[in-house]
Amino acid sequence: MQKIIVLNPKGGSGKTTVAINLASHFAVQGLRPTLMDMDAQGSSTRWLSKRGMEHAAIHGIASYERNSRVTRSFALRIPQECQRVIVDTPAALDPQRMPDVTRDAHAIVVPVLPSDIDIHAAAKCITDLLLVAKIPRHEQRIGVIANRVKKNTVMYRALMRFLQTLDIPILTTLRDSQNYVRAAESGIGIFEMKPYQVKEDLEQWLPLLGWLSQKSPAEAQPIENRAAVDVPLPTPVPAPLTSIAPATPAPAPAELQGVGSAVPAVNLVEPAKPQTKPHSPILASLPAWFTRQS
Ligand SMILES: Nc1ncnc2c1ncn2[C@@H]1O[C@H](COP(=O)(O)OP(=O)(O)O)[C@@H](O)[C@H]1O
Ligand SMILES: [Mg+2]
Repeated sequence: MQKIIVLNPKGGSGKTTVAINLASHFAVQGLRPTLMDMDAQGSSTRWLSKRGMEHAAIHGIASYERNSRVTRSFALRIPQECQRVIVDTPAALDPQRMPDVTRDAHAIVVPVLPSDIDIHAAAKCITDLLLVAKIPRHEQRIGVIANRVKKNTVMYRALMRFLQTLDIPILTTLRDSQNYVRAAESGIGIFEMKPYQVKEDLEQWLPLLGWLSQKSPAEAQPIENRAAVDVPLPTPVPAPLTSIAPATPAPAPAELQGVGSAVPAVNLVEPAKPQTKPHSPILASLPAWFTRQS
């Protein structure tokens, strides 16, 4: 069983959006995911409640519900057949809770928005993951998603430059897309919409899914009776899209390398150097179903 934590104490960064779409993807793959909602706002739980019986099963655990009729131990039980657990975490998560929340996680995914406030919050979040939760950087369990990105904007360039200073893999960039909003309204993910409607969005998920498949423990094998087979597993990509090399030579304190100094280094005015186009190798490896138009 693989445990994936979606975390960023900044509200509105896209945690729930990423969590429910991961759950949707794994459900379609027949991996019987469990979606654990730690947020008292209950957004993931609400999404799950809209999900019709015709869709592949996702087990929901509202782990914020302390006064539920069912006992907490029962509510927190993960079904035996579950092969992926996705944890949607709350905003304003206390850093002191991070060691607990991230314990046993195979992957920690941090969505970040391209705004000045969000970039600073992300720097703090990554610092806390490294120093408070004590997740060794070399284990490469932490990855960042640049979310709601409008390319060729000053903030996008600032975000990408900041992320590159972190020495943390940038897993993908997700564009601002109404497909996420439409899917969420119906209790589904973009993986359950018509491929031609969401082609551009699906394409952006491939590197993230490839990275996650590399982080999955050896025992995680797809179960035999898959609920749906029309969306194949992504081809694992060998490495994250964007270079993870720090922009400057590593300074002395190993765990703070690149983090504390990252934000001041971001220049929001000066035009950035052209970015290397990250998605082109992925386009070439897209499966045939992906390019089908109807
Ligand atoms: N890539 C995206 N494109 C369009 N809307 C998005 C995207 N990511 C998130 N949103 C929207 O932004 C809002 C906040 O996202 P959400 O996932 O709830 O953030 P969080 O869980 O971090 O608070 C939601 O209305 C969601 O639909
Ligand atoms: Mg949320």
